[in-house]
Amino acid sequence: MDTQFAIAIMAAGKGTRLKSKRPKVLHEIGGRALLLHVIAAAKQVVDAKDIYCIIGHEADRVRAAVEATGVQFVLQTEQRGTGHALQMVKASFALSSAPIPENLLVLSGDVPLIRPETIEKIREVHQSERATMTILTAVPSDPTGYGRVIRVDPGAQTPEVLAIVEQKSLAPDQLDTPEINSGIYCFRTFALFEKLDLLDTNNAHGEFYLTDVAAMLVADNQRVVAVKADNIDEVLGANTIAEMMHLDAAMRLATARRLMASGVTIFRPETTVIDSEVEAGPDTVIEPYVQLLGATRIGSDCRIRSYSVIQDSVLGDNVTVRNGCIMDSATIADSAVLGPYAHLRPESHIGAGAHIGNFVETKKVTLGAGSKANHLNYLGDAVIGSGVNVGAGAITCNYDGVHKHQTTIGDNVFVGSDSTLVAPLTIESGSYIAAGSCITDDVPTGSLALGRARQIIKPDWVARKKAAKEIL
Ligand code: UD1
Ligand code: CA
Repeated sequence: MDTQFAIAIMAAGKGTRLKSKRPKVLHEIGGRALLLHVIAAAKQVVDAKDIYCIIGHEADRVRAAVEATGVQFVLQTEQRGTGHALQMVKASFALSSAPIPENLLVLSGDVPLIRPETIEKIREVHQSERATMTILTAVPSDPTGYGRVIRVDPGAQTPEVLAIVEQKSLAPDQLDTPEINSGIYCFRTFALFEKLDLLDTNNAHGEFYLTDVAAMLVADNQRVVAVKADNIDEVLGANTIAEMMHLDAAMRLATARRLMASGVTIFRPETTVIDSEVEAGPDTVIEPYVQLLGATRIGSDCRIRSYSVIQDSVLGDNVTVRNGCIMDSATIADSAVLGPYAHLRPESHIGAGAHIGNFVETKKVTLGAGSKANHLNYLGDAVIGSGVNVGAGAITCNYDGVHKHQTTIGDNVFVGSDSTLVAPLTIESGSYIAAGSCITDDVPTGSLALGRARQIIKPDWVARKKAAKEIL
């Protein structure tokens, strides 16, 4: 327990402006829930047990989504405003035996791009300025909708603040105030707690505004200061889908820049959709319109061609993913070649140097090193050795309508085109399956298996048929 600093994250609101069934803080940008971004930043600054997440609207759902982070939760059953959210924190401290931290840093669950460096900066300014309340602010191109920060010196030569005024309460002469309140603050906890009890709901929304605490502290001769964020995107809120998508684009571009800084070439990065946790090694090339999602990790010297969508997959070095591949929870070893238009479903493990070609679908498959399935195959529930050639159109029949069955294929097997391999089935190493076979029995090592009708030739059949027609 840090006796100096704790962090509270306001995340109880519904997000009415999103018009969505999903709680606002669980909407995603960069492939991760807003609240998880904020918690991740907070955890860089204090221990998870010193983070108090205020939840309320769909509390169970929000808690379940972020529980693994190890943060504490404070319940705000009714959402009566940001001031009321902090009242709940005060009440929970009163009930617990934990010492009240000297300072409380407050973050908003819907201001997701906040960086740990900036949280540190507020904390430092708060201490060096000996402030009771320190407000993170910014001057965006359009301040409409945000609470505005009214400075003692509007020329902003000094950091002192007089008040925060919400958009709907701005007086005519305050309407052009350019500096916004980010919804991120640091307080001396005792001073904050004292003022929380004095808040009222005499305002446009009929809510308890946390922002009113600023003027109350000033009236009490306490020091309230503003610190400007270095980066404007960091303090932008996500109240509407459009705002959310603006932040999503900003975050994905930042991820692309991070990858490019580590040696990845991304052509037209603005066309790619790359989630924030994705990693890729140097000299990998990512072509336009590629999506790299979830926990995807790509090695060095890979080429990911346009229109491929790769989710939660791990690719080794020197892998080629040709155009239009779809991959989910797959692992691909070094120098494998995939696509174009391959579909790798979960638990596809493709060996080193293996090829998966056009219109091939795999699921729960291990394909050994150097093996090839290049054209129009379905391979499901199979363990396939190395050096195997699966001919065009060959498939595993893994499902009997009730159960899934396994196919095992040894090393260096040749599976002829259009073979139908009916599982459960074992084809031992070095054997051949004749093209067009329906294979239902196990095939021993080194043998040839044929399972097809014998061809019949009827010589001169066409001429005889024609002659018969003429007689009629
Ligand atoms: C708030 C600020 C505004 C600031 C803006 C910055 C107030 C009164 N206004 O406005 O000055 O410019 O943020 O983004 O604080 N929440 C709760 N419980 C509640 C209400 C809200 O936990 O009862 C949470 C929400 O889930 C959200 C955050 O607090 O994460 C902010 O609430 P929101 O309603 O979005 O406030 P804004 O109108 O954006
Ligand atoms: Ca907001």
